Amino acid sequence: MDILEIIGKKRDKKVLTRDEIHYFIKNYVSGEIKDYQASALLMAIYLNGMNNQEISDLTDEMKNSGDTLDLSDIPGIKVDKHSTGGVGDKVSLVLGPMIASLGAKLAKMSGRGLGHTGGTLDKLESIPGCRINLTEEEFKHQVREIGISIIGQNEELDPADKKLYALRDVTGTVASIPLIASSIMSKKLASGSDAILLDVKYGSGAFMKNLKDAKKLAVTMVNIGKALNKDVKAEVTDMDQPLGMAVGNNLEVKEVIETLHGRGPKDLTELCIDSGSIMLVQAKIFYSKEEAKKAIIENVKNGKAFEKFVEFIKWQGGDVEYLYHPERFDVASRIIPVYSNKAGYVSRIDALTIGEGSMRLGGGRETLDDVIDMSAGIILNKKIGDKVEKGELLATLYTNKENTEEIERNVLGAFKINKNFKKKVLEKELIE
Ligand code: URA
Repeated sequence: MDILEIIGKKRDKKVLTRDEIHYFIKNYVSGEIKDYQASALLMAIYLNGMNNQEISDLTDEMKNSGDTLDLSDIPGIKVDKHSTGGVGDKVSLVLGPMIASLGAKLAKMSGRGLGHTGGTLDKLESIPGCRINLTEEEFKHQVREIGISIIGQNEELDPADKKLYALRDVTGTVASIPLIASSIMSKKLASGSDAILLDVKYGSGAFMKNLKDAKKLAVTMVNIGKALNKDVKAEVTDMDQPLGMAVGNNLEVKEVIETLHGRGPKDLTELCIDSGSIMLVQAKIFYSKEEAKKAIIENVKNGKAFEKFVEFIKWQGGDVEYLYHPERFDVASRIIPVYSNKAGYVSRIDALTIGEGSMRLGGGRETLDDVIDMSAGIILNKKIGDKVEKGELLATLYTNKENTEEIERNVLGAFKINKNFKKKVLEKELIE
């Protein structure tokens, strides 16, 4: 077997065997197969696709390319969640404590933010003292004892994805459903949970720009789960505006606290309760989503969900005084209002522009080495469907940077304001 044969087969729209996929992954990770050869194969996959069997074989081979986490010594069903990335997406930090307060075990490895999307790890690190680099033993112990831990991905996990993702990034082969699906699922499967809930976002600011492609990706990932005997479900949700009102690390943690107290924005609260209830059924703690939803709402009301958040942050070394007194978080030195230049109804808030704006204010990173300003970001003062008058506040920027006029103009331009508002029925689907 050699790589030229494999590239030629895929170029000619033929199906790759398990052995050929194994050969490619093994020899690419070891350096035997060169980047230029892997690029050609990636482009052939991008252009000609893969069938379900090839996708699940590729996923399994990538998963097996490095360490895998064994969580079997933690009693109960371990659940995990993954969002394909969005703007203002702080769902894991709200939903995790909600479900852990009802007995679920969330063992989650998470990522950092890059470009316009934020990352759960950065949000956690914006709480002074909070550690995301627990050892495997600490991680497992914490999940066993309190039902929740979120840490950074182990360096030895899925080295095939690390190499392939970096290569895809510079060869125009990111936006391929077989490659995205195998990349996400190989990491999730390597992190050892029994049941996984995926949130596949669509819209501006998301990987998938429309509902049709998002559904295709969701179905592909659920099928990988079926082929590899894992309980995988996928929600398809919109990202036509940022989630909640806050974008930026500190600002988002404050919104997490509000939401766990039952005072959060409607869209964020509903998504967390909805996804949380699906995970509680996957964890076999409740038989129906309705029962699970009621229990989550009850635990928000009686304070148990917030108490679980405090316990979780305390175990990870964070200073929980900030959770009781969120006014202690650093506040940016410049707070800049953005006012509407017309009257009407907000019909769209371009999530990509808001995410990029927050990044440029200091709240995100352009490259992985950039240092984040935890206090920087954007608060939306209006959401889709809200009425606005000319001169009314649309958004507030938080930054320690000067010369932000262009960002202010972009944020204003992200708001589409129309004379009338026709409520769009948002399609939301659960693929299982
Ligand atoms: N997220 C991933 O982890 N991989 C992709 O290919 C795309 C999004």
